[in-house]
Amino acid sequence: MEGFAGKVAVVTGAGSGIGQALAVELARSGAKVAISDVDTEGLAVTEARLKAIGAPVKADRLDVTEREAFEIYADAVKAHFGKVNQIYNNAGIAFTGDIEVCSYKDIERVMDVDFWGVVNGTKAFLPHLIESGDGHVVNVSSLFGLFSVPGQSAYNAAKFAVRGFTEALRQEMMAAKRPVKVTAVHPGGIKTAIARNATAVEGIDPQELAKVFDKKLASTTPEKAAKVILDAVRKNKARVLVGADAKALDIIVRITGSGYQRLFSSMIAKALPKVH
Ligand SMILES: NC(=O)c1ccc[n+]([C@@H]2O[C@H](COP(=O)([O-])OP(=O)(O)OC[C@H]3O[C@@H](n4cnc5c(N)ncnc54)[C@H](O)[C@@H]3O)[C@@H](O)[C@H]2O)c1
Repeated sequence: MEGFAGKVAVVTGAGSGIGQALAVELARSGAKVAISDVDTEGLAVTEARLKAIGAPVKADRLDVTEREAFEIYADAVKAHFGKVNQIYNNAGIAFTGDIEVCSYKDIERVMDVDFWGVVNGTKAFLPHLIESGDGHVVNVSSLFGLFSVPGQSAYNAAKFAVRGFTEALRQEMMAAKRPVKVTAVHPGGIKTAIARNATAVEGIDPQELAKVFDKKLASTTPEKAAKVILDAVRKNKARVLVGADAKALDIIVRITGSGYQRLFSSMIAKALPKVH
């Protein structure tokens, strides 16, 4: 792939799934890659794969919710590679539970990782991206950042927030003539560990949900997702939908407006276990 050779790219949540595939694809495309995750075992696997490709790699344990650590990390990546061109704010978690039964803590945890993690990464790296003269912020939202479904209020809120934040940033960078491009990523079902790593309110077995996700909903491989995302980055797209499911559902939501809620609520209520 053209356009990534010699660039310094930062990928959060790079120990698994989409983040790992992005790191590998960036390395294959000639980028120098800074990878991080809270899962140090997964991160070591990614690091070994990047080294086997021959890419310069910096691997660190980083929790994206830890703002100060993120700022120190951003300076360390700049010091290590001499510049930073791209950040892929990819780390994320999933959680299932209706608002009536989930706790404030459940919602806060999802917002902390899925929304504040993206804010922390963007703010910590933005000065370095501007300084590079050729920067790009890539924020991973979701198909669930385009429409809501029952049982996913926290995840929906975080992913809608990522979309709003990212779309405002893109306009700010253009208006201020900053040398930073901005892309929001909306994957549909991707075959990763996301559902197996997910938690749920009491009364729902996350592993049962994961089986449904793995069998019926995850249709795109992370490798394919990474290729689609990097192609969109190269073309400076504002928004990228990943997977045929994402494209089809985006059209349904556009056509039906708020009417999708009536359609989806009964369909999804039938598919998900009841908790109240
Ligand atoms: N898989 C899908 O179907 C799908 C669909 C839409 C959006 N997404 C989004 O894609 C992104 C990547 O998810 P994935 O599917 O590859 O899942 P995954 O579970 O395979 O990978 C996510 C990675 O993020 C890491 N992580 C979790 N919390 C973290 C924290 N606080 N700090 C640092 N790292 C942390 C995990 O350890 C894991 O390695 C997430 O933002 C997710 O919400 C995934």
